[in-house]
Amino acid sequence: MSAPLIEHIGILVPNLEDAIERWSAATGYTFSPIARYRTQRYCDSSDPEPHFHDARISFSKEGPPRIELMEVTGNGTHGAAQLGVHHFGFPGTEDVPGRIAELAALGIGADGKSLTEDGRVHLWFTKKDDLDGIRFEFIAPFPGPLVSDDGRELRNDPATGRKDLWSPPLG
Ligand SMILES: [Fe+2]
Repeated sequence: MSAPLIEHIGILVPNLEDAIERWSAATGYTFSPIARYRTQRYCDSSDPEPHFHDARISFSKEGPPRIELMEVTGNGTHGAAQLGVHHFGFPGTEDVPGRIAELAALGIGADGKSLTEDGRVHLWFTKKDDLDGIRFEFIAPFPGPLVSDDGRELRNDPATGRKDLWSPPLG
């Protein structure tokens, strides 16, 4: 297996609108309309039981690596104590639990996962402290629970297998 490249770099910011403005100016990149990764089934160190998680995000068009700006939410992996460079993202990971197990065997733990209604893992972070302050984020190849900022459903992008952040939402 060839080692997968970093597809995006996630950065946690206090205010997403402000961050988009500053990062657009500083990089010259174009950032997507704001979307939300919204699930009722997120588990992390703040609460290991599945709970509500509603992260506002925006991706750069440029990349890879693309820049993912995320706004602070909750008290766990996306809490205010975690501001700054947050994770390296690997979407399209076929066997997310398998990758987490491989890294666990190397002493790199996990903190933060998102489950589907039927219990599959859509997204899983490694533990920040176990890899020099950076998480890896493994994302399964099927579309995640992303909605527009006002809660409308987003289209699936057949080319990437992910939600399309750039087209107008459905409905
Ligand atoms: Fe990410």
